Amino acid sequence: MSVDNTAKHPIPPGFEDALLKPADYTRMYDESIRDPDAFWAREGRRIDWIHPYSVVKNTDFTFGKVSIKWFEDGILNVSVNCIDRHLPTKAEQTAIIFEPDDPKATARHITYAELSEKVNRFANVLLSQGVMRGDRVVIYMPMIPEAAYAMLACARIGAVHSVVFAGFSPDALANRINDCGAKLVITADTAPRGGRRTPLKSNTDAALLHCSDRVRCLVVKHTGDQTTWIEGRDVDVLKLMDEVSPDCPPRPMNAEDPLFILYTSGSTGRPKGVVHTTGGYLVYAAMTHKYVFDYKDGDIFWCTADVGWVTGHSYIVYGPLANGATTLMFEGVPTWPDAGRFWEVCDKHRVTQFYTAPTAIRSLMGQGPEWVDRHDLSSLRVLGTVGEPINPEAWVWYDKHVGKGRCPIVDTFWQTETGGHMITSIPGAIETKPGSATLPFFGVKPEVLDPASGQIIEGNGVEGVLAIADSWPGQMRTLWGDHQRFMEAYFQQYPGYYFTGDGCRRDEDGYYWITGRVDDVINVSGHRMGTAEVESALVAHEKVAEAAVVGFPHQIKGQGIYAYVTLMNGVEPSDDLKRELETWVRTEIGPIAKPDLIQWAPGLPKTRSGKIMRRILRKIAEDDFGSLGDTSTLADPGVVDELIENRMNRA
Ligand code: WT7
Repeated sequence: MSVDNTAKHPIPPGFEDALLKPADYTRMYDESIRDPDAFWAREGRRIDWIHPYSVVKNTDFTFGKVSIKWFEDGILNVSVNCIDRHLPTKAEQTAIIFEPDDPKATARHITYAELSEKVNRFANVLLSQGVMRGDRVVIYMPMIPEAAYAMLACARIGAVHSVVFAGFSPDALANRINDCGAKLVITADTAPRGGRRTPLKSNTDAALLHCSDRVRCLVVKHTGDQTTWIEGRDVDVLKLMDEVSPDCPPRPMNAEDPLFILYTSGSTGRPKGVVHTTGGYLVYAAMTHKYVFDYKDGDIFWCTADVGWVTGHSYIVYGPLANGATTLMFEGVPTWPDAGRFWEVCDKHRVTQFYTAPTAIRSLMGQGPEWVDRHDLSSLRVLGTVGEPINPEAWVWYDKHVGKGRCPIVDTFWQTETGGHMITSIPGAIETKPGSATLPFFGVKPEVLDPASGQIIEGNGVEGVLAIADSWPGQMRTLWGDHQRFMEAYFQQYPGYYFTGDGCRRDEDGYYWITGRVDDVINVSGHRMGTAEVESALVAHEKVAEAAVVGFPHQIKGQGIYAYVTLMNGVEPSDDLKRELETWVRTEIGPIAKPDLIQWAPGLPKTRSGKIMRRILRKIAEDDFGSLGDTSTLADPGVVDELIENRMNRA
């Protein structure tokens, strides 16, 4: 199927009373770029401040002295904004709908009044364990309301949370606990997903073997499954919550105090601890959530991401709750018990905005539209996608079968580092094109740069790398404990800009099309993975001498992981060894990092100075070796023929 994706899809009928109309977008965007101080001085007031700010923007992208501050003298508390301020009008409104993994189990509706009580109690539990303002708390939890309580409880007392995705291994968890120096880790006994159970507590036990023995472990007994218990270290959270006071005064925080750290993959070495702060982040998460999804009171908002990723932070917890919304938390997976699960949940809870990843759409598309057609999706108003470029075929399927042609699709381009949407359409205001993220959000000034010279490429119908010329409130502030690495990773290559790491095209209409990462980061099922991380996991195995990892196009996942492995002298390659290496990577990092294809490589293509030529490895993995380019600088050009001969991905 080939799709015409050059023509704009008009805004569907029914969006005449959307929050933003085309003229509003143009007017507000222009102001946000022309006079960011005035624009954000006004927009900052969409949240409540204990002491209002007098300074709005104070940012500098100059390499060597990068500094980003927003609303810097403002004082506020995030949990007050997400809970307390809604109590006078919305105490009995549902804040969180919890839909469990098992469709036969009952869903839970948590009102703002209940959310308030739970978060206050949870915050008092944290205080009782000696957690203080500025302390780090790692959260390793299933997709259950207690994960949101834990995040908001940290925010209430000024502790900095770092949520670690429950799919990560004990080693990955230990590295994160140690990197941020967490005082405490919050987990659950086990996490049901797709009918199976992830042993979170025993993973945490394994992780804590590599951490200081002062780290405490709070356990939410969610399934009641048996776990080991270490007296003096392990704490039963739910039991303690019943014992402590239901009131915990919120800690007044400075706008620039850190709210959370979230680890993400970069092109080199160990994961980076992205730091987001309090004021600017919340303003940006709330504003994007409201406008990009056209969120109105009474709507039911469902973002299918996990709270372990930034999408879950900004669009399950902070953005929706700051707006007094009803947000749905889903514990399960799209394809269990069957491929109709998403649509069943949309129908059951009368979901109005549905936000998911292209990989999920592609896998459900493969199961046929019958699974969608079986359910009543008339409540849906806006559809969203995030995480990777969406191929036009999947876009058209989503539009036709899920949205029935009535729901605008917002393709939201953003990153862990950006805190919220950067380039995205807006229902009622921006017409769409299948596969394009369309236009920048307020305050975002994208530039297409020439990758080699770093010069701005003006005009439309151009392609290059995507950089952002000025700061916006949701931007990350630093990398935890390593401001130098922060500057080097994002501000050095193209001086004066924040560099996204993505390639992009600006078409004849000025619409942006993200073409994918231009660094050694790959995107597997919307999960970001550093090829260097997978390589270091592989070479940590005693039988592996060397490894090189690249991405390759994958029908469902977007990109798959392709590993070239050179074994130690005397080690015989075998299928058993392949399986051993797969399991090894799963335990070193987590299931999402498991290589899809492993090729035994007696040698890797290297320059005479010993640098692996990844360009060539990418081509072979793509099964596109007709255009290998110049191989004359290779130390031993013969290895390339051998690799082509035994390539694993054949059309
Ligand atoms: C990378 C960031 C924050 C969202 C979840 C992923 C890719 C993200 C899109 C989109 C094309 C996209 C980019 C980006 N990406 N959204 N709508 N269209 N590409 O966050 O793990 O920090 O990954 O995801 O390559 O750099 P992340």
